Amino acid sequence: MCGIVGYIGGRSAVPILMSGLKRLEYRGYDSAGVSVLKNGDIEQLKAKGKLSILSSILKDKPLRSRIGIGHTRWATHGAPSDENSHPHMDCKKEISLVHNGIIENYLTLRQELEEKGHKFLSETDTEVLVHLIEEYYEGNLEQAVSKALKRLEGSYAIGVICKKEPGKIVAARQDSPLVIGLGKNENFIASDIPAFLPFTRKVKHINDGEIVILKRNSVRIFDLDLNPVEREVTTVHWDASMAEKGGYKHFMLKEIFEQPRVVTDMLSGRLKEYSVEIEEMKLTDDDLRKINKVIIIACGTAFHASMVGKYFIEDFARIPVEIDVASEFRYRNPVVDENSLVVAVSQSGETADTLVSFKNAIAMGAKSIAVTNMVGSSITRETENMIFTRAGLEIGVAATKTFIAQLVAIFLLSLKLGVARGTIDKEKFREYHEALLRIPDQLSDVLKKAEQIRNIARKYYKCDDFLFLGRSLSYPIALEGALKLKEISYIHAEGYAAGEMKHGPIALIDNLVPTVVVLPRDSVYEKTLSNVKEVRARSGITIGITNKTDDPLDEYLDETIFVPDTSHQLSPILTTIPLQLLAYYIADKRNRDVDQPRNLAKSVTVE
Ligand code: G6P
Repeated sequence: MCGIVGYIGGRSAVPILMSGLKRLEYRGYDSAGVSVLKNGDIEQLKAKGKLSILSSILKDKPLRSRIGIGHTRWATHGAPSDENSHPHMDCKKEISLVHNGIIENYLTLRQELEEKGHKFLSETDTEVLVHLIEEYYEGNLEQAVSKALKRLEGSYAIGVICKKEPGKIVAARQDSPLVIGLGKNENFIASDIPAFLPFTRKVKHINDGEIVILKRNSVRIFDLDLNPVEREVTTVHWDASMAEKGGYKHFMLKEIFEQPRVVTDMLSGRLKEYSVEIEEMKLTDDDLRKINKVIIIACGTAFHASMVGKYFIEDFARIPVEIDVASEFRYRNPVVDENSLVVAVSQSGETADTLVSFKNAIAMGAKSIAVTNMVGSSITRETENMIFTRAGLEIGVAATKTFIAQLVAIFLLSLKLGVARGTIDKEKFREYHEALLRIPDQLSDVLKKAEQIRNIARKYYKCDDFLFLGRSLSYPIALEGALKLKEISYIHAEGYAAGEMKHGPIALIDNLVPTVVVLPRDSVYEKTLSNVKEVRARSGITIGITNKTDDPLDEYLDETIFVPDTSHQLSPILTTIPLQLLAYYIADKRNRDVDQPRNLAKSVTVE
């Protein structure tokens, strides 16, 4: 997730671009850059690091112009560096481009362009697009952009300027956000409304597959074939802080609602007919065949994703999997050798315990993979093998979208291991492939239950204790549900393996303790349902997350939240969402500081 901005008008562009980027920093901030048209040339400045670094460079070297584009980056292809920062330029330095999204077929395009003599300066997917536009440019920027975009697979929101056509910005979008701000004798593009909110509240929303031509006095929208499209103007009434959260009350809620998009991005370009392509992972199929043990280490929410990962890998690849919280792993004497694969799962890539444990296992000879959301983070310096979780910057301290992305990452890894080792056949692979592709829409369906879940939260938010139960793959999800609730609402919540309930937690049950049961219709459904009945028999409140069934669930459940049917292995992705929403609405009803709960930190870099 990156942020793009653009300005054309009568004022000095750079301060406007910089103020827009500042408001988009929540979308990423590992590097930033701007480019402007000045005296018939393109001038640009870009720098690794936070926006403040670019600001101080601009103080010494001001760029004066009335047209420009800017970018704040959150790396997906190529580590944060000056070269990989946007904007990117073509070979002749006539066209400059900023991009948010992922170009899936960039390697093929890059090879084609290199064969034609184009010289690349970065490792990014984005740079291919500006060279492609150069290739098609015959004096009309929008025509070149239209031709180039038709060659792309993937997602994009772009802003492009060209020195031969100094009076226009061309922008376009497909599966990445882009809005147009309409001013008086000036116009704006941005990934999100807050970027131009200080200058205008008049907005045109751009749809997928549309191209926009912005001039100082006009904004014209076209489809990809450059047929004109009409779009009404809307006026935004949000204040700046609401606008930054996309109209949601908290970042956490916004991030929960981003999850369909996160899964789409996670799968983008990675699933083939009978293979999983993870470009940032160098291990070969031969390496994967030699592994006789997998060790997954992580902390917090990432540990719960790792627990689910154990089920996936053992099921698909038939390799024994050991999981451990990193703060324990580092102080034991684990059995690790060159046939072990250690997988560290860390959203931030900076968690101290995870980092040390990972290094220790690597020092003992293990092969290694880091699953992380942060390209260029410390953990990525320890290994050649990564799986980036492409969830975009997560601001809410309680992890939500990065958890779902971690589940997908480990699922993909398990399929990859299964294919390499011949433990998953083509037919099964196809079933999972198809089921995965349905997940984004199914997540959107679960999110439609938000109002129902909010009403449930209103009923039970005063309860002081909650139990969460699940079995098999739903056990870690129960743990995650309990963790979410305690993190942000400060309510005591315990997650338990459903079958363990009779060994202790059942003593807690009374008519003031809600038990949330993760109950997808899988091979252990009947068993877990028996546990629900045990709770009910002791006057406990029961809240179930399940799929549609003919069973008379009303007899056992006070509240039932239905999720769509999917393959049993993928059910954790769907059943997690109601738990996130339940925790969120309860915490909000209790007026908690949802995005920054007390005593917690997003990234724990101390032991
Ligand atoms: C902190 C965060 C959690 C996170 C855990 C591990 O406790 O508050 O949300 O799950 O660290 O973080 P990591 O960045 O390694 O995934």
